[in-house]
Amino acid sequence: MAEFRLPPGSQVQPGRIHPKPTGGGSLRRIEVYRWDPDRDENPRMDVFHVDAERCGPMVLDALIAIKNEIDSTLTFRRSCREGVCGSCAMTINGRNGLACTKALDAVDDVVRITPLPHLPVVKDLVPDMTHFYAQYASVKPWMQSPSPAPADHERLQSHEERAKLDGLIECILCACCSTSCPSYWWNGDRYLGPATLLQAYRWIADSRDEATGERLDALEDPFKLYRCHTIMNCVDACPKGLNPAKAIGEIKKLLVARQT
Ligand code: SF4
Ligand code: SF4
Ligand code: FES
Repeated sequence: MAEFRLPPGSQVQPGRIHPKPTGGGSLRRIEVYRWDPDRDENPRMDVFHVDAERCGPMVLDALIAIKNEIDSTLTFRRSCREGVCGSCAMTINGRNGLACTKALDAVDDVVRITPLPHLPVVKDLVPDMTHFYAQYASVKPWMQSPSPAPADHERLQSHEERAKLDGLIECILCACCSTSCPSYWWNGDRYLGPATLLQAYRWIADSRDEATGERLDALEDPFKLYRCHTIMNCVDACPKGLNPAKAIGEIKKLLVARQT
């Protein structure tokens, strides 16, 4: 796992307080984590004020307004603006979520925004996802079906077989769950974490996939899978309402079942 680029012992310092815009409106105070590891000794929290009546309803709208109108150096990821790409995941007032689907009105008076926890920081609100994606790739997230497909139609599923993928294929790999999981914080170098395990189960549960045995073999490991202690933070954190802990439980059940 990439090393934290936070200097040992460093603390988040009070940062710059940008002046309030003139002209009234409905001002919201937005505190944002700022850190450029190549330039700054310590991270800091900068304070901005945006007019909620002008900037749009979501936390992401406030960040875009700050970047466009106050400080163009503020760095964050976003793409779809409608909760399907997963790139705007961050911590908003202590809870992981998507900035584009979190309404300013749903957040306390002061909005405090920090990067997803326990990931190295590239800059400001951008975490380094390299290790997370490498873990995702390690579970071979594609269909493995060496048998030739039927000549006259695609590999079909019954409605029941397809329904087993509900609650799995909606995952947008935002990492809100994994970065809220205490087991992943402490053992993220070897524990795969809830997002990757949910994705692993997505292929185990797919009736068209023929690599179930190999997939289970690869997960039968004291760290990769069994570091999940059913703490359930992952379920609470998922902005898509998914249940990674249930998927992890299903994998464990299959491992037990094949031993009996
Ligand atoms: S249920 Fe498992 S994966 Fe989810 S937060 Fe708890 S330990 Fe982590
Ligand atoms: S399970 Fe939910 S929180 Fe976890 S990566 Fe997928 S969408 Fe994000
Ligand atoms: S910008 Fe795509 S999920 Fe928020």
